[in-house]
Amino acid sequence: MPDFDVIILGAGAAGMMAGIEAGKRGRKVLVVDHARDPGEKIRISGGGRCNFTNINATHQLGRERFLSSNPRFALSALSRYTPDMFIARVKKQGIAFHEKTLGQLFCDGPATQVVSMLTNDLRAAGAAIWTGRQVGSIERIEDGFDVMIGDGRVTASSLVVATGGKSIPKMGATGLAYDIARQFGLKVTETRPALVPLTFEPGALEQLKPLAGVSTNAIVSHGKTRFEEALLFTHRGLSGPAILQISSYWREGDSILIDLLPGEDALELFRAARKATPKLHLQTVLGDKLPKRLAQLAGEMIDQPGMIGDMSDKKLIAAAERVQRWSLKPVGSEGYRTAEVTLGGIDTTGLDAKTMMARTVPGLYFVGEAVDVTGWLGGYNFQWAWASGWAAGQVA
Ligand code: FDA
Repeated sequence: MPDFDVIILGAGAAGMMAGIEAGKRGRKVLVVDHARDPGEKIRISGGGRCNFTNINATHQLGRERFLSSNPRFALSALSRYTPDMFIARVKKQGIAFHEKTLGQLFCDGPATQVVSMLTNDLRAAGAAIWTGRQVGSIERIEDGFDVMIGDGRVTASSLVVATGGKSIPKMGATGLAYDIARQFGLKVTETRPALVPLTFEPGALEQLKPLAGVSTNAIVSHGKTRFEEALLFTHRGLSGPAILQISSYWREGDSILIDLLPGEDALELFRAARKATPKLHLQTVLGDKLPKRLAQLAGEMIDQPGMIGDMSDKKLIAAAERVQRWSLKPVGSEGYRTAEVTLGGIDTTGLDAKTMMARTVPGLYFVGEAVDVTGWLGGYNFQWAWASGWAAGQVA
């Protein structure tokens, strides 16, 4: 007889959800983590307020809002465990929340409420939680898996790997899930930091640096993908939701385009100003629409020192282009040190979309961020963690 029915590696969002569901089915569950406390990323998420889901993180919008080598893979789990189901859980617990923007649901109070809800549910489901334990070698045995935990071996018929991705190693992120996948013959797609600030070469950075701290609403695009959200200038480069979102699509060598006047027609604006206030400088005209320092930089980039009344249509067209199609070439990103998630991961072709079980290794499951499914910013990644953990918890 194995010691447990299910061992879950990783007491994060996906692992705890899988443990709760398996425990509710009467399975004897052990959740193991090397961190001292469960749910550390939940605790710090959403600036400490946990953006726990997004009302748009549904299977209907899934193909567009979850990135994967196989965009269809996530849809099954997302359709079976919906944002509404997690919201119902949060409401039942009496956790107050609000929609911040774009369907993003945040706790009114600290994110630790979500951690407590999950750890309480885990305990209520009869699961054992072992934290501060190192996970060592894993062996396949006749009726399941034998896992070295701390300095003892523990067996179970099912093994759920929920150890997340590589983002924020300082918080305990490791590549353990990828190593386990490879050990059992599963493929791992290329991984890279995502939802991460972008960095620039020293020349471009010199130009941007005076703007550090400035934030503005902008459309940032890469190819056909575009996000209209806040853009933040930092000492290292560009950040803010619009940049974090586009970072999941951007690749080395590519440029991004920035529209500093979303929803406006800069040319129309300049033409109207030329007529109404011909003595103003372009920079001043932009000052009505943009933060002062940014208007100044935009003015310098446009490099038209005279009054707007003296500018030809050709010059106004060029100026509008500069403001609404500002092309910048990042050199890199801030990397896993600050990335919210890891793009890529366990290749979904090796997993069953309904259960998250490895096709070739019965009893072995991969859930959460470790899998090659990455959501947009704004609660999508937690919804994937809940949904994939829930799916595995129904069968493991
Ligand atoms: P998660 O990383 O949560 O859990 C993995 C667990 O495995 C951890 O507890 C870790 O200690 C453990 N582990 C790792 N290696 C191990 C090893 N070798 N041995 C034993 N245990 C090991 N998403 C969102 O939807 N809304 C939000 O507001 C935010 N905010 C946010 C802020 C910041 C700063 C970050 C870094 C990330 C977010 N995210 C987010 C992303 C979100 O946190 C992430 O997608 C989920 O936590 C992924 O859940 P998992 O359970 O898959 O991994």
